[in-house]
Amino acid sequence: MGKQATIFLIFFYLMKVLCLAASPLNSSTDEHSLLAIKAHITFDANNILASNWSEGTDFCTWIGVSCSRRRPRVAVLNLFNMSLEGTIAKEIGNLSFLTYLVIRNNSFNGVIPDEIGSLRRLRSVRMSHNQLSGEIPLSFGFLTNLEYLSIEGNHLTGTIPWNIFNISSLQKIAFTGNQLYGTLPNDMCYHLPKLDGLYLSFNQLTGDILTSLSACSQLNTLSLSDNNFTGAIPMQMGNLSQLQRLYLSSNKLSGESLN
Ligand SMILES: *[C@@H]1O[C@H](CO)[C@@H](O)[C@H](O)[C@H]1NC(C)=O
Ligand SMILES: *[C@@H]1O[C@H](CO)[C@@H](O)[C@H](O)[C@H]1NC(C)=O
Ligand SMILES: *[C@@H]1O[C@H](CO)[C@@H](O)[C@H](O)[C@H]1NC(C)=O
Ligand SMILES: *[C@@H]1O[C@H](CO)[C@@H](O)[C@H](O)[C@H]1NC(C)=O
Ligand SMILES: *[C@@H]1O[C@H](CO)[C@@H](O)[C@H](O)[C@H]1NC(C)=O
Ligand SMILES: *[C@@H]1O[C@H](CO)[C@@H](O)[C@H](O)[C@H]1NC(C)=O
Ligand SMILES: *[C@@H]1O[C@H](CO)[C@@H](O)[C@H](O)[C@H]1NC(C)=O
Ligand SMILES: *[C@@H]1O[C@H](CO)[C@@H](O)[C@H](O)[C@H]1NC(C)=O
Repeated sequence: MGKQATIFLIFFYLMKVLCLAASPLNSSTDEHSLLAIKAHITFDANNILASNWSEGTDFCTWIGVSCSRRRPRVAVLNLFNMSLEGTIAKEIGNLSFLTYLVIRNNSFNGVIPDEIGSLRRLRSVRMSHNQLSGEIPLSFGFLTNLEYLSIEGNHLTGTIPWNIFNISSLQKIAFTGNQLYGTLPNDMCYHLPKLDGLYLSFNQLTGDILTSLSACSQLNTLSLSDNNFTGAIPMQMGNLSQLQRLYLSSNKLSGESLN
């Protein structure tokens, strides 16, 4: 994508985010959003949502939903391992008090809605082990409180949006086991002072292993195996004093080995 197109898209998302913030969202819009999420689930093997998420009842008691302590607004949506199948409704973007979004280990398919990028209170997004496809939304770059982002084991393609690497609160980025391609930005670690885990194995990433990685000084696990990274392993990697796990196998690395 050209730089101008990228800038335009970012502007477009910003306008969308601002418009959404201007519309009044309240607890009845939260109920509406949850019911939309339920309506997009095509198979609910254990009949959990079908029997429990019923309109007109207190949604703060629904299975997988926790509300904020101060107000009846959804703060946590945790649908971990519920054998759910379907798409993620874009109305999820109206749950404006959401801090934790966990849909790990289900069979959600289709694309990740851009609207998630307007949930600026989000601290944790865990969508690993589903069948999600399409690209990682560029709007995720607006999640400026995000600490944990994992979308491992899906069918994502495209490049990793560069602005994700500008979220300085991030501690974990996990995209292992997708079909992501392209190179990593040269300055990827200059704004990630808290990153302790970077998991990018089993994708189709290319380019050099960057010297800038040494700026991710809290890095504990660096997993880049099973891609098509090229070039030498940079000397500066030796600066990563917290590093405990380093996976670089099955790439096209060359040059002298570190010792
Ligand atoms: C919530 O917002 C909707 C639409 O914005 C509005 O129709 C409704 O009256 C509001 N409800 C409450 C309880 O404020
Ligand atoms: C949903 O399940 C929870 C936990 O089992 C229960 O407390 C709640 O009353 C149920 N709500 C409805 C509407 O069935
Ligand atoms: C997930 O669900 C499956 C069956 O649906 C069950 O066998 C497994 O133990 C569950 N895993 C966890 C961690 O709860
Ligand atoms: C909720 O989200 C949908 C889709 O993103 C949007 O069309 C709708 O206007 C939103 N509802 C409110 C009350 O803002
Ligand atoms: C994920 O779900 C599958 C199928 O329901 C189950 O066999 C498996 O144990 C689950 N994994 C975890 C980590 O819970
Ligand atoms: C982060 O943002 C700054 C300016 O806000 C920009 O110059 C830099 O290239 C960005 N870096 C990454 C990795 O996104
Ligand atoms: C690496 O590149 C080769 C072609 O040069 C391709 O055949 C292979 O599938 C690629 N591997 C990965 C993991 O992308
Ligand atoms: C990182 O390592 C290089 C060479 O190994 C060294 O010259 C440089 O001073 C180190 N930088 C920091 C911030 O420790």
